[in-house]
Amino acid sequence: MFLSSRTIFVGLCFLFVLAPCFTRATTNEVQVSCDSHNFNNGKHFRSCVDLPVLDSFLHYSYVRETGVLEVAYRHTNIESSSWIAWGINPTSKGMIGAQTLLAYRNSTSGFMRAYTSSINGYTPMLQEGPLSFRVTQLSAEYLNREMTIFATMVWPSNTTVVNHLWQDGPLKEGDRLGMHAMSGNHLKSMANLDLLSGQVMTTKAANDNMLLVKSIHGLVNAVCWGIFIPIGVMAARYMRTYKGLDPTWFYILIL
Ligand code: HEM
Repeated sequence: MFLSSRTIFVGLCFLFVLAPCFTRATTNEVQVSCDSHNFNNGKHFRSCVDLPVLDSFLHYSYVRETGVLEVAYRHTNIESSSWIAWGINPTSKGMIGAQTLLAYRNSTSGFMRAYTSSINGYTPMLQEGPLSFRVTQLSAEYLNREMTIFATMVWPSNTTVVNHLWQDGPLKEGDRLGMHAMSGNHLKSMANLDLLSGQVMTTKAANDNMLLVKSIHGLVNAVCWGIFIPIGVMAARYMRTYKGLDPTWFYILIL
């Protein structure tokens, strides 16, 4: 019933070298790209970015010369009893100073409400108010567990990089917007967005570095456990029996 050392060796190689490839393939399969999305209202946007957290996507068309930015912020996998928000912070990063678009579904009428609100502190009332830039054609929809805010805004011409942020939270009694979660992804939902290239520079970069470190760690593990250790074990097990190979087997083992 004992497995031969060759079988064990092949098994180990599979486990450490090939298994991560399969895991990775599965992960890629479940990633949803925003390019393929068609909006129900027929709207079309030139660019889109898969935002790194909170199941969110930003679709947009930007004309640099006029500063006109048309956006659709789409949050998937969300309950109808939630609010969503997307905004730009023209003065700094994060929530304070953010100029936001908000939306939720009225619990009585079932109609969507979309409005703008400027945030000045960490205890905002999120009341409707004007933003520091002009916003038109504001609307929202909720369909198949996806909530989307549509809007058009005008930026000073030649604006290219903006700090943007997005969020979701619970709708409380009387359609009051409750506080969003205060941990994990809800504090990471902000980034720099390059409107021309569509690049998002966020904590995702840190995740990418971590992925590289993990890959290297995996590779080193695979080589050590899958190749060097079996060679050492086999040298000690089989070469020792040949007198002429003494003490070579020992050097191979400790190497
Ligand atoms: C009910 C209204 C809201 C309350 C009471 C609230 C409260 C807070 C508080 C206290 C923090 C700091 C948490 C910490 O550092 O531990 C925070 C962070 C954050 N909030 Fe809100 N928030 C609200 C609405 C919003 C909205 C509408 C957005 C976005 C569009 C948003 C986006 C963020 C983001 C991205 C952070 C992390 C970055 C930062 O600390 O500035 N929040 N929020």
